[in-house]
Amino acid sequence: CGITARVGRGDAVDELVSGLRNLEYRGYDSAGIATANADGLDVIKRAGEIDALCDAVSTASIRGRIGVGHTRWSTHGPPTDANAHPHTDCLSEVAVVHNGIIDNHAELKSELSTHEFTSETDTEVVPHLIEEFLSAGYSPEKAFRRAIDRISGSYAIAAVFEGSDTVFGTRSGSPLVLGRSEDRFYLASDVPAFLEYTDEVVYVEDGDVVTMRPDGYAITDGDGVAVDRPVETVEWDPNDAGKGGYDHYMLKEIYEQPTALRQTIRGRSNQLDGRVELEELPPGAFSDVRSVHLVAMGTSYHAAMYAQTLLAERGITAQAFLSGEYGSNPPPADDGTLVIAVSQSGETADTLSAIRSVQGTGAHTLALTNVVGSTLTRECEDTVYIRAGPEIGVAATKSFSAQVATLILLSERLSRDVRGGTPAATGDLLDALSVLPDDVQRVLDESTAESVAKAYHDSESYFFIGRGIGHPVALEGALKFKEITYDHAEGFSAAELKHGPLALVTDQTPVFAVFTGRNDTKTLHNVKEVRARDAPVVAVAADGYREVDDYADHVLRVPDTHHDVAGILANVQLQLVSYLAADELSRPIDKPRNLAKSVTVE
Ligand code: G6P
Repeated sequence: CGITARVGRGDAVDELVSGLRNLEYRGYDSAGIATANADGLDVIKRAGEIDALCDAVSTASIRGRIGVGHTRWSTHGPPTDANAHPHTDCLSEVAVVHNGIIDNHAELKSELSTHEFTSETDTEVVPHLIEEFLSAGYSPEKAFRRAIDRISGSYAIAAVFEGSDTVFGTRSGSPLVLGRSEDRFYLASDVPAFLEYTDEVVYVEDGDVVTMRPDGYAITDGDGVAVDRPVETVEWDPNDAGKGGYDHYMLKEIYEQPTALRQTIRGRSNQLDGRVELEELPPGAFSDVRSVHLVAMGTSYHAAMYAQTLLAERGITAQAFLSGEYGSNPPPADDGTLVIAVSQSGETADTLSAIRSVQGTGAHTLALTNVVGSTLTRECEDTVYIRAGPEIGVAATKSFSAQVATLILLSERLSRDVRGGTPAATGDLLDALSVLPDDVQRVLDESTAESVAKAYHDSESYFFIGRGIGHPVALEGALKFKEITYDHAEGFSAAELKHGPLALVTDQTPVFAVFTGRNDTKTLHNVKEVRARDAPVVAVAADGYREVDDYADHVLRVPDTHHDVAGILANVQLQLVSYLAADELSRPIDKPRNLAKSVTVE
């Protein structure tokens, strides 16, 4: 879910709604806003996408300089008008928006048995609790603080009160950031909500209580003592958060990959002396590392799997784990373990929980993320940024490329720290990285993915196979395909093919085979096996790998490059196929059903 709040000069409604539009990637099954004005609180909320809220707002007389907003991704209760946020108390004295889960909501609800609840959400206990304290004579601020003291779980919360010019906010385990302009203040789950109005931000920390009035803001701890949180300037361009002429954010972000990769690599790889510089990391930071655990979910997990292979190639023991599993059943870790959390958003609850699970073991923790100031960066000892710029499309694209490029650099750095010296491959690899943005541009300019998408978009099932780094690329290709086309797609190691999946292969099941320059002959055998069962074959292969031509119906070409980098190029071709197939099927590409970009619940 995404929350937003705003106080200051001018009317709040348009800014709240535009903030929600920029947070839609966090959830989009219902939305609402509440404003405070001289007549009390105005609240409008609707099931459905933000357009439904806009229609309702355009015919209503909602107004006020102070307000809160919410875009929802359902966890408790289906997406209905009643379950949409903001939630109010019985007397409409307070309106609350919340992202996260309130663990003790059932217990609190039974305590509040005299209150009439109108939704199935966990959130609704908050306004009712606040109401209790208001009726006991507390001020809005004290009532807010007392209510927060009573709840447990993960949350970012913002509230407005009838007859008050203050927005209150707090967080525990869910993101919250304050935006500061000359005459207005904002609070939101993420910076894009207010980036068009200000680039001055303050990252709110767990346990902080924010009070924002038209003339200023204060951040205090739970006891009301002021805490010092620095004002930072974000470097993202507001246009980067818009669609910039593309039909979908996903397509825009696919085409942004050359620029994103230039930002990722800039200043970090020195071809002259063959060294990788990740200046965020202290020299020799990893000299005691004996093994590496990579924890991540979704697309980030595929980047983590990719890195597992890169590290193994450099003689470093490494394993990628789904963070949702790792957090519940952590494997042994000690002061020789480096745990790398890979997360575009830095807010994925499963990944945060995996990092928390190694506390006290002595393991070193490192965040690899796109979002400056995200929770993960604060919970890990070190951080490396992937510098991909804002990614809005739910289907992750440029963040995967930037994650893998950063992980290549990190693998080189780890190799130097752990094993000493410079790995032999470094020179060639750094050359390949330096031309990677141009190589990606070439793939984008010359891709024939459209003919593949047109030929096969109405097939029964799609399979994706690859070996080594081609394996996570195959998994990522299948994930992207199913997320946005809603067709069945499955990725697996090409080695696994004849151990089961081959039973499903027919002339109705196109097979995408990823060739990355290592073990290609074995993968070619697998291609022959599926071809013998009449399956259409789409190969993704380097310009120089001609052996595949006789066995594939289509070959999506990528420039010849270093093996470690080849998977990034192959993946760009598969992103294009998924996008174009979903477009043929008129799917809502930026908002795939049931999915959200940032999943802040476990
Ligand atoms: C969700 C998104 C995926 C994303 C995953 C991990 O499932 O829909 O696109 O890969 O979360 O997100 P993270 O922000 O941790 O990379």
